[in-house]
Amino acid sequence: MSQPFTTLVLAAGAGTRMHSRVPKVLHDLCGQPLALWPVHAALAGGAERVVVVDGPARALEQALPPAVQLVVQPVSNGTGGAVLAASHALDTTRPVLILSGDVPLISSDTIRDLVAQHAERGALATMLTTALDDPAGYGRVVRDGDGFVARVAETKAAGDASDAELAITEVNTGVYVFEPRALLDALPKLSDGNAQRELYLPQALELIRAAGGRVDAHLTDDARTVLGVNDRVQLAHVRALAQRDINERHMLAGVGIVDPASTFIDVGVPIGEDTTIEPGTRLLGSTSVGGDALIGPHTTAIDSHIGDGAQVRASWLQGATVNAQATVGPFAYLRPGAVLGEQSKAGAFVEIKNSTLGRAAKVPHLSYIGDADVGDESNLGAATITANYDGRRKHRTLIGQRVRAGVDTTFVAPVSVGDDAYTAAGSVVTDDVPPGALAVARSRQANLEGYAAREGAAEGDDGASGPPLQSEGQ
Ligand code: UD1
Ligand code: CA
Repeated sequence: MSQPFTTLVLAAGAGTRMHSRVPKVLHDLCGQPLALWPVHAALAGGAERVVVVDGPARALEQALPPAVQLVVQPVSNGTGGAVLAASHALDTTRPVLILSGDVPLISSDTIRDLVAQHAERGALATMLTTALDDPAGYGRVVRDGDGFVARVAETKAAGDASDAELAITEVNTGVYVFEPRALLDALPKLSDGNAQRELYLPQALELIRAAGGRVDAHLTDDARTVLGVNDRVQLAHVRALAQRDINERHMLAGVGIVDPASTFIDVGVPIGEDTTIEPGTRLLGSTSVGGDALIGPHTTAIDSHIGDGAQVRASWLQGATVNAQATVGPFAYLRPGAVLGEQSKAGAFVEIKNSTLGRAAKVPHLSYIGDADVGDESNLGAATITANYDGRRKHRTLIGQRVRAGVDTTFVAPVSVGDDAYTAAGSVVTDDVPPGALAVARSRQANLEGYAAREGAAEGDDGASGPPLQSEGQ
């Protein structure tokens, strides 16, 4: 077991290269803000305490897990300034792991290896490095003749690095472990005498060395785990890697993903064994999926629950619950508060919001069900509509068990329908229907005999203008 350490996550930078009103570290990566990725990696890697450095707007405050402490860097004056702003929060008896809020794929294994090497070799600081084919934008690691770290040559702004330094492919990943006293001694000595006029944290390594301390490097060959996100191109690249990992984890745990490249599953979404996910499907936010389900193709589920054995084809779900064995779609829209009972059905072109369908209740085609409770085994015929809104307020429709609504029934809420009742096709139901009754709520048909002959004599037979009374003439 490695020794306890404190983790500092630097997340107060402006993120100017994103060109965004949203702070960079709040940009979404597979359902979680960028900066939360290193926070969770640190917790999983054994961090005793995690402190996040945020800007004065405290943008991350709501997103952080409860045990994580937030400190504010008052002005964005560089990575060194960020650590300086957090120095009061550091435990002087424990090593300090420093992570960047914009290096999201750092793994708990890498963290453990780095912390272990730091403890073994007894350097005052250990920097995580990697070799990149294209090191553009990263600080380059300048080693001394003994292989220790001499300094980091920054490259973000022109003028910090020489041509020889730019040729170095080993980069600083922005991840370090420091002995706390060595770090706290160095921080006040940082200067902004560089191209960006900022306090660069890597200068602390030089200062520790100048004071006679040893600075080590831990070279990782897993370069993808240390990729930084500075712009939206890098974010997309990192997202593809993160998504691949998530999808592979599910597949190895028994989830069938037909086309991983077109399947987007957020990091916290649990999926049961033998569920199959067809192409073009997105499972987002707090969504959860049981086993033996079939999802997609082309389904989006946001903050929704899909139960065991359910089927959800080509549909959009937000804040919906689809219980076991229910079937949805194709082309259904389930909105917040839609709760589908076991073995129920919401078929093609059906929209449901804030409503419950009982066990085995069916809404097979072309319906809008809003603010309704539909009892077990009821069947609402094609084009059943709840008129739930009177222009000012919403009202509920209560439908009992085993009800059969004829096609094109409109329920004008508030209204209730008793168990085993029927409605006639085309009914506009404004009054409550007793149990077992048939509600007929439509005008009778009238046939006007001889109509065609009369019209033909008056207008000729070109049919261009059509019958004047379409609805009566058909
Ligand atoms: C930094 C390193 C560079 C390394 C790279 C790895 C410095 C000076 N350079 O460069 O050697 O190769 O990371 O990804 O450290 N931040 C603050 N407050 C600030 C400025 C930044 O909290 O005032 C945070 C940012 O939110 C970000 C992290 O520190 O999460 C890194 O800042 P960034 O400006 O992206 O540094 P790089 O130029 O990438
Ligand atoms: Ca960066």
